Amino acid sequence: MTKEIIALAGDHGGYALKVILKSFLVESGFDVLDLGCDGMESVDYPDFADAMADVIKQNKAGRGVLVCGSGIGISIAANRYSHIRAALIHDRLTAELSRRHNNANIIVMGGRVIGPDVAIDCLKAFLNTTFEGGRHQRRIDKMS
Ligand code: RB5
Repeated sequence: MTKEIIALAGDHGGYALKVILKSFLVESGFDVLDLGCDGMESVDYPDFADAMADVIKQNKAGRGVLVCGSGIGISIAANRYSHIRAALIHDRLTAELSRRHNNANIIVMGGRVIGPDVAIDCLKAFLNTTFEGGRHQRRIDKMS
């Protein structure tokens, strides 16, 4: 069976969390497309949101994970793209709802605001929850 490819990107504020989430994804059997950044040196989060939008557009990955310090900047940057539905998540329920109701293709978390165990729990919920469609699809269509 083909492994799902998950893209992963973030700035220096999310770097430590990105390392943890990458290990989780690899250990869980996903193929990971790591778009950087590659360390704690200060970088600009819009560049990594742009890189994520590119790989999703080109179908190099179906879904992605974005991280920055708060999660706010990189989610704002990613949601400028009409093919991106990036959900800034802080708990399992909203992670599930982002998939079930919003068909989010990107989960966003803040490396300075969420602990690693909660972040992994959110990521599991995001990966394992399917979109309900129906009335939710109609609402998404209104944003396209
Ligand atoms: C970087 O210091 C920080 O501003 C960034 O990671 C993010 O939190 C912005 O929203």
